[in-house]
Amino acid sequence: MNDRVSTARRLVRAQPGLRLLAAAALMSGVLSACGGGGGGPDPVQIAEGKQIFRFDTFGDEQQWTGKLRMQEALSTVDPTTALSVGLKVDSEALPAAVVQGIQNGSIDLKSPATTLALLKLDAVVGVKGTVTNVGGKDTLTSVGITCALCHSTVDNSFAAGIGKRLDGWPNRDLNPGAIIALSPALTTAQKAVYNSWGKGMYDPRFNIDGKNKPAVIPPAFGLEGVHKITFTGDGDEIAYWNRYVAVTQMGALGSFSEPRLNLSITNGTVDLVTSKLPALQAYQLSIKAPAPPAGSFDVAAAGRGKAVFEGAGKCSTCHSGDQFTDANSVLHPPSDPVAEPETPSYASRSATRLYRTSPLRGVWQHAPYFHDGSAPTLEAVVATYNTKRSLGLTAAQMADLTQYLKSL
Ligand code: HEC
Ligand code: HEC
Repeated sequence: MNDRVSTARRLVRAQPGLRLLAAAALMSGVLSACGGGGGGPDPVQIAEGKQIFRFDTFGDEQQWTGKLRMQEALSTVDPTTALSVGLKVDSEALPAAVVQGIQNGSIDLKSPATTLALLKLDAVVGVKGTVTNVGGKDTLTSVGITCALCHSTVDNSFAAGIGKRLDGWPNRDLNPGAIIALSPALTTAQKAVYNSWGKGMYDPRFNIDGKNKPAVIPPAFGLEGVHKITFTGDGDEIAYWNRYVAVTQMGALGSFSEPRLNLSITNGTVDLVTSKLPALQAYQLSIKAPAPPAGSFDVAAAGRGKAVFEGAGKCSTCHSGDQFTDANSVLHPPSDPVAEPETPSYASRSATRLYRTSPLRGVWQHAPYFHDGSAPTLEAVVATYNTKRSLGLTAAQMADLTQYLKSL
């Protein structure tokens, strides 16, 4: 606490900087993270899982600090730049003096020292930095990431990119590839791949199979009752994928093995993952899909669209039940989803080689759509189905169906 207050004071003393709008623009570049969950409605376990989801690196500093040397890269990044690559700032972690300093422009958002101060306050969503005094100077000595980097965003209530955390909401502003490409440890060829992904996209298999075809960062909410996890239904429970992503992507200390992918990875000699999976899953399962904002869709049209969804559109043949998915009983061949064919096929790189019908609760929230982000809007989703599946829907039916999707 004392540390936070003194950091705040130092920030306020910093030279005059940009005004609020610039601050907001910068902040929108900050990273956010993934959510977790499972394990029943035990409030203590859920609270523990929330802390893990937001703040636990599982020892992944070995990758981000030891191998990628991100502490060197991040030490030169000012908050404006961080916001521009989609990193988010948790306004509730900011002491009043810092809030004031940002508002009155006395905190310099063009200074890398401000980034260090924000990391010291644990205010950068999904990024854990250790700032140590080296020779009288604050120095970023280690950095790691948490699930919240990709699977949380903020509500922008303070400024663009700065606000209260929204766990489970995918950070579609985040450009993970551009951030990784800042690493001084990568080759030019590797950097070119990471820089090719774009915002909201991440390839969780590139470092395994060497193929480059990123997927959109999906929501980690509304998954209760869905017993096939990921676009390709690789796991029966969220914990399966949490272990995968923690060990194989984040660089957590622990093990993951999957015979279907001929994959077996162990990082380090201790296991900082396994004991946390039940609480992490419990938290993720507790995150409900967000209801559509009031007035965001036409109620009468949505009512007519429901009939199209269940009738002429044939959507409910796959998007069935309360979660709008048949995932618990069947996965689909790559010939089914309208985003295929593609090269390389995303499914072909997965454990199942199939696709899961996406659950649709809260679908209004997370454009673009499909695993490859190929449909920018729900209007485009409906138009794509109409063409590719030769549904012969009228313009009015397509408009109603779109309003229905916005209501879920
Ligand atoms: C670098 C970005 C990134 C980080 C960090 C990350 N994820 Fe993800 N996550 C993704 C991407 C991309 C996918 C989509 C993969 C797929 O479905 O094939 C995904 C998928 C998921 C899913 C599946 C959602 C569904 O609809 O089935 C869950 C749950 C999830 N992540 C939770 C987590 C948790 C928990 C952590 C921390 C241990 C985490 N993620 C860390 C990018 C990330
Ligand atoms: C044959 C089964 C099937 C039918 C029929 C079907 N879908 Fe899908 N749907 C899927 C699959 C599988 C996915 C995941 C595809 C992907 O990610 O590329 C999906 C994805 C979606 C998504 C994207 C969700 C997201 O999170 O990005 C929307 C929206 C959607 N479908 C709406 C519809 C509508 C509307 C209809 C009717 C016109 C329909 N679907 C018919 C299987 C189906």
